[in-house]
Amino acid sequence: MDYFGLAQKYDTPLYIYDFDKIALRYSDLKQAFSGRKSLVCYAVKANSNLSLLKFLASLGAGFDCVSVGEIKRALIAGAKPYQMIFSGVGKRDDEIKYALTNDIFMINLESEAELERVENIARELQKVARISIRVNPDVDANTHPYISTGLNENKFGVDIDTAKKMYIKAKKSDNLQPIGIHFHIGSQITDISSIIQASGIVSKLLTELKSVDIDIKFFDIGGGIGIVYNDERDVSLYDYAQGILKNLSGHDITIVCEPGRFLVGNAGEFLTKVLYEKRNKDKRFVIVDGAMNDLLRPSLYNAYHGISVVGKDKDHTICDVVGPICESGDFLAKNIKLPICESGDLIVVKSAGAYGFSMSSNYNTRPRVAEVAIISNKDKLIRKRESFDDVIALEKECLE
Ligand code: LLP
Repeated sequence: MDYFGLAQKYDTPLYIYDFDKIALRYSDLKQAFSGRKSLVCYAVKANSNLSLLKFLASLGAGFDCVSVGEIKRALIAGAKPYQMIFSGVGKRDDEIKYALTNDIFMINLESEAELERVENIARELQKVARISIRVNPDVDANTHPYISTGLNENKFGVDIDTAKKMYIKAKKSDNLQPIGIHFHIGSQITDISSIIQASGIVSKLLTELKSVDIDIKFFDIGGGIGIVYNDERDVSLYDYAQGILKNLSGHDITIVCEPGRFLVGNAGEFLTKVLYEKRNKDKRFVIVDGAMNDLLRPSLYNAYHGISVVGKDKDHTICDVVGPICESGDFLAKNIKLPICESGDLIVVKSAGAYGFSMSSNYNTRPRVAEVAIISNKDKLIRKRESFDDVIALEKECLE
């Protein structure tokens, strides 16, 4: 990759995504479930760039959305409504209305109150809402507590008994059609036995529902497949798919999955420039122009991202790579070994394609960075760098 060329053309900090890698990941996942009907609904929250969504739609992907904004994005990018899921623990009335009037494939319900709300809105609109219920299987995903979602102590989904009650209620309703069953126990899961265990628990409910004549057609296994950031082991897609399918033998059901990180995480890099080096007594800092507002994961989760200096591979010493923001929590890496840098050197932060740009902000009045796609070795700007005027526009309008 010609990082210097890209930095010269687009400036830094910069997100760079390799679309060919994304296509490979997509086809590997589809392949793992071949022999079964499957629908891959990309979790838009991981990276919601319109060009990226359009690219995934062109491959045949559906989309998992958690806000009306994400639904609108996906539709603009060419998503087919019948391949879109509306998930999330708290949906507003206008969002539910929007999903129903746009004939979104299914709405994932996360509480009894939400079931009632969706039923009422569907009735008002004289529609039948296709629904799925998110079951919380109370399984530990063994991941960072902030991104673990499948335990009773988490706010997500409903327990098995509540789910049963909800399915029976939905079946009786004229305005609800239960078609799916859903679970998602967390993110960055590298020990997939927890996902397989969850699928076993949820498939038992599937069998029980069948016995009371509730015939579910879609088994939504959520997202969560972990990727390699550091020394994790690559998840075997074969084991993942087979483990889940084993629990579904005898069921004529379509697999739906909602991967985010798996499709885009390793395909993205964050490029930032060294401003200068500095020492505080024995402590070495490499100060770069990218910061926690651009890539929050290290600060928020203490997440590890591999880092290298372009064109330099000698004389490594320990340092922290930090941004210009006025917080000690503003770092991209801590206590890593890097070559001595000079002002203008480029630093690549790896595996930044998921939850990088999509979690960025304007903190410290820093304009959001540009995004570039690499497609068949050619670079293409897919989001312009924000200007200062962009950042203040909505406030300026309100100045007296
Ligand atoms: N489906 C549902 C219902 C979800 O809540 C999520 C992610 C996904 C699918 C996609 O999960 P994935 O395949 O990407 O693991 N900001 C955090 C990750 C938060 C994940 C939230 N839910 C991070 O940077 O690690």
